[in-house]
Amino acid sequence: MFHFWVERKLGPAVMALASRRLHYSEACSRTRWLGMSTLKNPLDLWIYQEILNETKPDVIVETGTAYSGSAAFLAGVCELMGSGEVISIDINPVSTEYAQHPRITYLGGRSSTSEEVLEEVRKRTEGKQVMVILDSDHSQAHVAAELEAYSPLVSPGYYLIVEDTNIGLVSRDLLPGPAQAVKAFLSRTREFETDFTRERYLITNHPGGYLRRREIAG
Ligand SMILES: C[S@@+](CC[C@H](N)C(=O)[O-])C[C@H]1O[C@@H](n2cnc3c(N)ncnc32)[C@H](O)[C@@H]1O
Repeated sequence: MFHFWVERKLGPAVMALASRRLHYSEACSRTRWLGMSTLKNPLDLWIYQEILNETKPDVIVETGTAYSGSAAFLAGVCELMGSGEVISIDINPVSTEYAQHPRITYLGGRSSTSEEVLEEVRKRTEGKQVMVILDSDHSQAHVAAELEAYSPLVSPGYYLIVEDTNIGLVSRDLLPGPAQAVKAFLSRTREFETDFTRERYLITNHPGGYLRRREIAG
């Protein structure tokens, strides 16, 4: 009981302080997965591993490849589970430096919201159990466009993770961002619900960003 009280009262304050310290800070920007730069809070990566193991998606679509550490992490977990593949998308061209892995397909050189990319992703995910992670351009307008384009691909019971919803804690200049896009999205759909249980470590870069597609639309 006391634990829940502390969590409810102090949780948001702890999270705000820790997020401010961690987000885009040296700590997170120096995260490495098997030596590859991975722009993540490791506590979120642990949650990703739990989600992957529980839901076992056939395909994980990730927007925002950057240095490919996160794609390699997701593909590595798929490899350990013996199922799943990753489609990673970046507006920059595919780099020879990206992690090479039989479970990763890179779509590079075009925006995640371009019709070409969306067509390709729809083709590759048709009839599959799909999870989506949005981690590209963090402006509200772009995240809103990604939510519009990618949310229909997410299978019932699977996750749509909107990253870096804590961005306003780093700088007000970066607002409006992902959190505002999520708020607007959830105000007009009952298809998705926020899974706050995924924030149980309190420190997450995606507060309110772990969305789950309802099994039965509400
Ligand atoms: C935060 S980084 C991705 C980090 C990576 N997922 C990780 O965890 O290591 C954002 C990436 O999104 C890419 N990006 C920016 N705008 C984009 C767009 N419109 N479409 C696709 N990718 C975009 C950038 O080039 C950058 O590599």
